Formats: sequence, C-alpha cells, structure tokens
Amino acid sequence: MSQLFHGGDLHTASNVFGRPVDDWLDLSTGINQHSYPAPAIAPEVWQRLPYLQPALMDAAASYYNQHPCLASSGSQPVIEILPSILRALGSAKAAWLADVGYQEHRHGWNQCGPIKTYNGLCVQQATQQIDSAMANDEVGHLVIINPNNPTGTLFSVEQLLFWAQQLNNGFLVVDEAFIDTHPTASLLSQTLPDNVVILRSVGKFFGLAGIRLGFTFASPRVLAALQQHIGPWSVNGPAQSVAIAALNDQVWQQQMRQQLIHQASTQLQLWHQPLLQLGASLAAQHELFRCFAMTPNLAHKLHQSAAEQGILLRPVDINSGKSLLRFGNIDLSQAKFQQRCRTWLRSLHTLR
Ligand SMILES: Cc1ncc(COP(=O)(O)O)c(C=O)c1O
Repeated sequence: MSQLFHGGDLHTASNVFGRPVDDWLDLSTGINQHSYPAPAIAPEVWQRLPYLQPALMDAAASYYNQHPCLASSGSQPVIEILPSILRALGSAKAAWLADVGYQEHRHGWNQCGPIKTYNGLCVQQATQQIDSAMANDEVGHLVIINPNNPTGTLFSVEQLLFWAQQLNNGFLVVDEAFIDTHPTASLLSQTLPDNVVILRSVGKFFGLAGIRLGFTFASPRVLAALQQHIGPWSVNGPAQSVAIAALNDQVWQQQMRQQLIHQASTQLQLWHQPLLQLGASLAAQHELFRCFAMTPNLAHKLHQSAAEQGILLRPVDINSGKSLLRFGNIDLSQAKFQQRCRTWLRSLHTLR
C-alpha cells in the first residue's frame, strides 16, 4: 500500500488513510518547506503566450553559471526524453544507473535499450563497479544522481569529469536536483565537456515544485535535439516571473542555504534516537531530507502508524531485507508539527 503513490501525493494518501488533504504533515518529499516568496504576477503575464523571457535566461546564467541551457517544465520531462535522444546521438551499449535512486531515470532508460546498475548506497562500491565496467568498455552511458535521492551519496566533480572523459561515444548525465545547498559540488562550477548533461530543478531548494521549472545544461547539439521534443511555450509565464525573482535573489539564497545547513542537525535529532532504539540506522543525511535503513516490515509499520497520526513519510524498498524510510524537513517554527511528531514517536514503544 505504501508504494502506491509518489512522495507528496496527498490526495491519494487522503483516500487511503481517510484524512482530509489539508490535515497532513507532509514529510514525504525533499521539497523545502520555506518556499521562495512568490512576487505578484503582472496581469499581462497571465494573458500572453509564454515565450522564454531573456530575463529568465539571464537569471539562470547568473545562478547556474554561464553554460548553454534549456528551460523546461521541471526536470521530469527531460528525464523522460533524454535517454532516447542520447542513444540516438551516442553509444548503443548499456546505460549504467544507481540501483537505488529517483526511479524515473531507470524507467526512461529501460524503454530504449539495455541498462545495468551500480550500488546506489555506497560511493566506494559504486566507484569500483563503474571503474571496472569502464575498464572493460561496458559503459554506454552513465547516469549519476548527485547527491542521490534518497541515499544521499555524492561523487566529487573530479571523479565525474574523469568518467566523462573515459566514456567512449557515450554521455554522462548528472541529476543535480538536490545540489543547491552545496553549489561548489556542482559540475556547473567547471568547464563542461560536450558529452556531459546536467539537470537542475527549481522545485527542491527554492520550494517551488508547483511552478514546474527545471534547466538542462548540455552541448548545443543535445540541447537542439531536446528543444525539438519539448516544443514552444514549455515554461508558463507565471513560473518564469517567479523564477526570475528567485534565481536573482542572492540574499534569500544565501540565508536559506545557511538556515538549512544550520537546522540540519535539529531536523535529524527529532528522529534519530527513537529510530535507533527500534533497530534502524541512519543511512542518508541531506539538508532537505534524511533516511533511516531498517527491515521492510519495520518501514511499513512506521509508515502506516505515522500516517494514522497524520504524518506522511516515504518508504523506499531496497531488497527483501532492507528498506529506507525518508523524512523531509519540518517547519520548525510550527510547534504543533513538532508536537504531532513527538506524540507519534512516543506511541512507538509498542513496536519494540
Ligand atoms: C533526483 C530527482 N531528480 C529530478 C526530480 C524531478 O523534479 P522536477 O521535475 O520537479 O524538477 C526529482 C523529483 O522528486 C528528483 O528527486
């Protein structure tokens, strides 16, 4: 039952658990609780066709660095069409993906050729597996979610550039949806080789998943192919207006980065001890989410009992013996949310 819906799907959760949509404490996503405050939208923005505003691309260049890029309605539509485009332009050999990670990549690559997986939970093991596959010329394309959602693993820019160089007629795709809290870890801080594609999402750090906006950074050849599939007016006008303000607002970005980094240990402490006592262990820590590893049985019991108290979590099954349970951030300024969590945690002794 817990795997029926994606994170943040409050309508389905409400149907399943019989709770009004507006009565959830939704911790099932990694979307920032403190959204960028959207500016008022000028009346003509609602009326006009949303040709890409130069101001949006200028704002993207200043926030992401000066690389050729394409705006789309979230990174999701690009994740769906990129595999067939890159296969047509490059290698027919297997695409390598993390065995645990945002599953839409796997879904997309699965539609159009062979895939193989590397360890999504451990950077060292993944590095060994990818290195050895590279040495045997078995890697057609390499997909890295950096940092990984939900496992939190992060590869260095040096490592990624080294792999990009080793690929033989293949592409390195790096999904940086969750990298905004550590911009220097982004490949966008580097000169990009032609065979690298980087995906960024405005939804997570800015807390603006609802406007649907993402950017793809790649060579002009790849961007042209993507543009053909995406078509005109792919980013609506209000989304462009909000994003121009958000991407240009360096003061908000800096304060939010510091706030999220500063609050990360408090967010973790809320859950850490009670979950350790139940036999879970900390598996991932990011400023926008944290994950605990446990048996699938425990993960599903916790997910169920939290939902019964109006707290929506995200279980991710890894294998028959292991699941992750992901906890997004709580708005710490809302005492009632912390209270709800404490009440739930106190009730857990019955699970021991
Ligand atoms: C790692 C990762 N990449 C990309 C996406 C898609 O994000 P969006 O389409 O909102 O940009 C998600 C959504 O959860 C994600 O977790």
